[in-house]
Amino acid sequence: MFSDRAINLTPSATVELNAKVAQLKKDGIDIIKLNIGEPDFGTPENIKRAAKQAIDEEFTKYTPVPGIPELRQAICHKLKAENGIDYQPNEICVSTGAKQALINAVLVIAQAGDEVIIPTPCWVSYEEMVRIAGAEPVLVPVSQQPGREFDLDIAAIEKAVTPRTRAIIINTPNNPTGAVYLKETLEQLVELAVRYELYIITDEVYEKLLYNGAVHVSVASLSPEARKISITVNGLSKSYAMTGWRIGYVAADRPIVAAISGIQGHMTSCASSIAQRAALEALTGPQKSVEVMREEFSRRRNMMYSRLKTMPGITCSDANGAFYLLPDISAYYGKRYGSTIIRDSCDMANFLLDQAHIAVVPGASFRAPDCLRLSYSNSMENLQKGLDRFEEALSYLK
Ligand SMILES: Cc1ncc(COP(=O)(O)O)c(C=O)c1O
Repeated sequence: MFSDRAINLTPSATVELNAKVAQLKKDGIDIIKLNIGEPDFGTPENIKRAAKQAIDEEFTKYTPVPGIPELRQAICHKLKAENGIDYQPNEICVSTGAKQALINAVLVIAQAGDEVIIPTPCWVSYEEMVRIAGAEPVLVPVSQQPGREFDLDIAAIEKAVTPRTRAIIINTPNNPTGAVYLKETLEQLVELAVRYELYIITDEVYEKLLYNGAVHVSVASLSPEARKISITVNGLSKSYAMTGWRIGYVAADRPIVAAISGIQGHMTSCASSIAQRAALEALTGPQKSVEVMREEFSRRRNMMYSRLKTMPGITCSDANGAFYLLPDISAYYGKRYGSTIIRDSCDMANFLLDQAHIAVVPGASFRAPDCLRLSYSNSMENLQKGLDRFEEALSYLK
């Protein structure tokens, strides 16, 4: 009855788990959520005020498709000052979240018969976006070398390139690994992409969430060639605790952005006028709250990492970005608790929910089958309690 496009989408592995979490909560069970994919902070007051003012001023009509000129100008200033990239306002398209910016980019670049390379572990939506465009996702695992866990494997990416490859989608800082790619790695990726005439769609939504001295590098800043092939995607959801406001954007060469605007014009017209005014305030107003949130995430990350490191059977990479850690729990595969056998990350997530009352995301959702994704977007007290429960539940497995 439905299109292949709809039928072929992989249902989210977390849907069932989320339904179970909701039911347990309804039954009055105290579930600690270590699966949260958005900042647990409120949107800063100055941003909320700007939105209220926009409503009061009747700034409530359609805007130009790629966004209000002031916001596009502010994005250009930001990209210049923070990322070292020169863009003009007509090289920016504001969208309904980075998610729409990403699918717009994929729809412009790829179609049936094309391939798009996605390094794994990866965020859940990239593969599906490529499939929605009719193209084929080609998954390439990250490096397995000790000390380089979660870094891009450039040689493996090169091996995956075929005459049908159109683009590579990268995400730094990374969801779910927390990895922040180094400049040298990105330079190698650019060299490869230029040689094979591929686009790099670079998702930088977690760029402000960096810890322990990690530095974010925007691919497009590396060289004029890098800028030419880069489609830089960013948004305000994670940096400014604005997930529900739905503001993201793409920055790229003028013809790419014109094509993206063409598609968006028929999909959603423009992002919400009110949210655009809020985004303008976010980018041009005081930035103190961004740093306050980052510092709190940093404290939580350090606590979670140092605890995971000491847990028996757990290995965890010392990742310094976003708000996730991705511990490897495969040492527990094959172990039992009563009649429960842990065969994979979904079994482990279910076991932890049932026995420890903590919600985590199975790594399988992100093509990381040996891992669980733990989010530290929760209060220090809840995180401590959640990790106590995690450690205790692991000790039941024999
Ligand atoms: C890696 C990554 N990219 C993009 C998004 C989407 O962000 P937005 O809220 O701007 O659509 C998310 C949200 O979870 C994400 O984790």
